[in-house]
Amino acid sequence: MISMMNAFPTLRTERLIFRQFQAFDADTVQRLAGLKEVAAGTLLPHPYDLEAATQWIAQQQESFAAGNAITFAIVLAEEEQLIGSIGMEIAREHELARLSYWLGTAYWNRGYCTEAVQAVLDYGFTRLSLHRIYAPHFHNNPASGRVLRKVGMTCEGRMREHYIRFGQFVDVEIYGILREEFLNDSVL
Ligand SMILES: CC(C)(COP(=O)(O)OP(=O)(O)OC[C@H]1O[C@@H](n2cnc3c(N)ncnc32)[C@H](O)[C@@H]1OP(=O)(O)O)[C@@H](O)C(=O)NCCC(=O)NCCS
Repeated sequence: MISMMNAFPTLRTERLIFRQFQAFDADTVQRLAGLKEVAAGTLLPHPYDLEAATQWIAQQQESFAAGNAITFAIVLAEEEQLIGSIGMEIAREHELARLSYWLGTAYWNRGYCTEAVQAVLDYGFTRLSLHRIYAPHFHNNPASGRVLRKVGMTCEGRMREHYIRFGQFVDVEIYGILREEFLNDSVL
């Protein structure tokens, strides 16, 4: 049985802090997630204005309160700089979560997303007792697939021409991991 805690948790890794998004983050969210390079890997609205970012933050807070999702602001521990987002949409009845994430372009290719996914998988399996976590990514976004393989997730298949993004049909790859696999890997 999954129970969300009343207080929003703060997670820490070697280089990162994960905390709840706050209204004051809206301008940074808009600036980072508003770039087309970031939007291209996601289903974020584009263009993305400050009002959309403000509404999105409020929606994350409501979803957490309702127990349907948890979305962390990814913050550089040393600089206290917000660099991205990582979250899980939770289907409690299935002990299942869907993972999604983005980082500002200036922070790509330094292993931050891998560090973040590892931390959130750990939170999902050990603190929320989830059974399965999965993540879809667009086929034309190999960096995301690489992250998911690096943390030990399995490519379970491809949904062909599943979404329309920027006017083109895109294939979607599905990666997944079960709690037992994650916990067994973690003790090795
Ligand atoms: C996907 C994303 C989150 C990755 O974040 P990141 O912090 O750069 O990821 P990491 O540094 O942990 O790992 C990236 C890996 O992909 C690799 N990579 C980067 N570009 C690549 C490419 N074009 N082809 C293949 N591999 C690539 C990197 O080399 C690295 O692998 P390595 O450690 O083996 O060298 C980031 O690119 C992003 O925010 N993209 C836009 C939003 C998005 O696509 N979100 C994901 C939705 S599913």
